[in-house]
Amino acid sequence: MKMDIVVTVNGRKYAASVDPRLLLSDFIRDTIGLTGTHVGCEHGVCGACTILVNGDSVRSCLTLTVRADGADIVTVEGLGTPDELNTIQTQFREKHGLQCGFCTPGMLMTAMDLLKKYPLSSDDEIREGLSGNLCRCTGYQNIVAAIRAAADLRNGSTP
Ligand code: FES
Ligand code: FES
Repeated sequence: MKMDIVVTVNGRKYAASVDPRLLLSDFIRDTIGLTGTHVGCEHGVCGACTILVNGDSVRSCLTLTVRADGADIVTVEGLGTPDELNTIQTQFREKHGLQCGFCTPGMLMTAMDLLKKYPLSSDDEIREGLSGNLCRCTGYQNIVAAIRAAADLRNGSTP
């Protein structure tokens, strides 16, 4: 049995007929071909698959595609372009917030959520917000620095 869904991803509407058990991470990567969303653990631990669903950060590997019917989704491809990075992407580049880059899409999407919802007045608050995203390379210091700089820019203070 298939189920019909319609989702908006990065401003573009997609209609599809999907298996009820299809994971949203697989739909995004395999059905519509947006491979910027990474899949690591596939059971909700690493955060690599994080996307925004109706403005909230969500682990796409724990979400059934049918549960996203009607949703407005943003993936890393929706943030900026190589020629025109958005603020948080720019700060990750400036502060060297990535090495291999595997965790980076999830880190960026989590950072978008944190920057929208929280004051991020301390680095501890940033670290707590990132606690569901694992990075095996950076030691987190430069990721925190990138989000600190983006938060400072948002708040109108000098990073
Ligand atoms: S792949 Fe989804 S949390 Fe790790
Ligand atoms: S940069 Fe390699 S896992 Fe984070």
